[in-house]
Amino acid sequence: MRIPLFKMERMQSTYENYVEYNLSESGVHPMRVEELLDGAPSSLGTARLLATELGYCQSNGTEELRDRIALFYPGARRENILVTNGGAEANFTSFWTLLEKGDRVALQIPNYFQTPGLARIFAGRADFFRLVRRKEGAATRWALDLDSLRRAVTKKTRIILVTNPNNPTGAILTDAEMDAVVQTARRAGAWIVADEIYRGAEVSGTTTPTFYGRYSRVLITSGLSKAFGLPGLRVGWVAGPPKTVEAIWAHRDYTTIAPSIMSDHLGRIAMEPARREEIFERTRSIIRTNLPPLEKWIATHEDIFEYTPPQAGAIVFIKYRLPIGSIKLVERLRKEQSVLIVAGDQCGLPKHIRIGFGSPVEYTEKGLGRIDQTLQKMSNTSSGVHRPFPAGRSGTAFR
Ligand SMILES: Cc1ncc(COP(=O)(O)O)c(C=O)c1O
Repeated sequence: MRIPLFKMERMQSTYENYVEYNLSESGVHPMRVEELLDGAPSSLGTARLLATELGYCQSNGTEELRDRIALFYPGARRENILVTNGGAEANFTSFWTLLEKGDRVALQIPNYFQTPGLARIFAGRADFFRLVRRKEGAATRWALDLDSLRRAVTKKTRIILVTNPNNPTGAILTDAEMDAVVQTARRAGAWIVADEIYRGAEVSGTTTPTFYGRYSRVLITSGLSKAFGLPGLRVGWVAGPPKTVEAIWAHRDYTTIAPSIMSDHLGRIAMEPARREEIFERTRSIIRTNLPPLEKWIATHEDIFEYTPPQAGAIVFIKYRLPIGSIKLVERLRKEQSVLIVAGDQCGLPKHIRIGFGSPVEYTEKGLGRIDQTLQKMSNTSSGVHRPFPAGRSGTAFR
């Protein structure tokens, strides 16, 4: 079966461990096993972990883990939850279960491009609606373009996909925007799949409201990889109506069968509500510490960069005015400077770059210093930094 390449993931998988400065990550610096075990109740402590028999785990996740995940969603119970291997498997199995050939999927862009690929594989047709930069008072935010949402959703639309908080912009939908998504879905009889994997990583400290419970046809996909800083556990989940969750579980029998029993154990520690909030505080504190130095660096390039601050996540999404496409720019930075960042073209928006800042500040700053060297070289050539494109030419394809 031919599949569209998931270009961003392919690029990261190929190069992330072969560069000196990997700024392509979207999460915060991961926690260590010992940090997670420190302060765990004795029922889940080190001795119990080491005594674990390495058998198959309960295939949809242990009852204790599902109970704890359910506590993150008002009104949810264990039968609303399926534990998967990462958020990626939650998205994969949800799309596989819901879609038939000939269905249409409306997807928010810019985005993490797993779901557009899945839409093409399982349905055949992807329609896009946009987040756009909008000036509100003194500040600029990424706002939902309601007209494009209405245009993208038809009677054939089976899924409306939102990533909230969003990757790569770090934008959070307002309550009114969430209501508009629900109304549009209700009118079309479509499912909302809300990828909420960055929920808990807000700069402000206020947890993003969930789509869960706002409409009968909602599936939440999420996991421990981003807001929790635990991507190595490969714990994700789907939250939704029991019948649909059961159908997704039946599809998961064909992929990975069950979560790892060690990961389920450690996931139970992370999802205990008080511990969950402590972990979010760790994540937010990393974001609040690391963002200002990065913003300082961005300000030194205000002649070429246009920047809208993230509301969540350890990533900035920057528009640039340079006579080079984002994929070429990222490639050049990797080859010349051994720095990896993400190309806007691989997130659905050209002339942008995504830089992750979840690693220690000194590391990120060294990587940024390398980027400066290439920008400097470009400014010394005739087609360089100080001859930006005329205003309005960049990024117009998606505006
Ligand atoms: C929005 C979004 N969803 C899902 C995933 C995949 O998550 P996981 O690593 O838990 O499979 C990512 C990873 O970057 C992501 O950004």
